[in-house]
Amino acid sequence: MGMNLTMIKAIQGHIDSSFDDDRWMLAPGDSGIRLNFWFMGDDPDGPVVTCSVYPPNPDGKENAPAHSHSSDTIRIVVEGRFKVGTKWYEAGEMRIQDAGRIYGPEVVGPDGCKQIIIFEKRSSIFPNYVKDEDTRAHAAGKEAFSKLMAPFNQPRAASPAAVSR
Ligand SMILES: [Fe+2]
Repeated sequence: MGMNLTMIKAIQGHIDSSFDDDRWMLAPGDSGIRLNFWFMGDDPDGPVVTCSVYPPNPDGKENAPAHSHSSDTIRIVVEGRFKVGTKWYEAGEMRIQDAGRIYGPEVVGPDGCKQIIIFEKRSSIFPNYVKDEDTRAHAAGKEAFSKLMAPFNQPRAASPAAVSR
């Protein structure tokens, strides 16, 4: 435990955080999304809980075009609104999404939103876009994202506690 994208250190076996935590980071690019990813367990492709704060979107600009992920995902809207396809999700609502199924486009609500998205596999966070033009348009983002994730996709050495058991 304690592995997370912004390397916040666990103290006495736990981390306290919140959506207002200024130790979280801004996503690469100009989206203005603040986030942190919490990696669960030692499996280098184990589950990850992503927490994101999306800025207000009064113009209804698309956040992501149609895409899928190679991983089941569970999205929980905590504050604000978020649209997938034609359906708006309000705070407290959730979408459980099968791996490999195309969804979207996504639009953040006018007042922004806070979300928790749980991915079955940390390698599958970056979207598989439907259109080649979207894949090309997001190539720089994918590269920046891969660099960010690289340290967390490596097998970890066994901890002393695990060895002694
Ligand atoms: Fe997605």
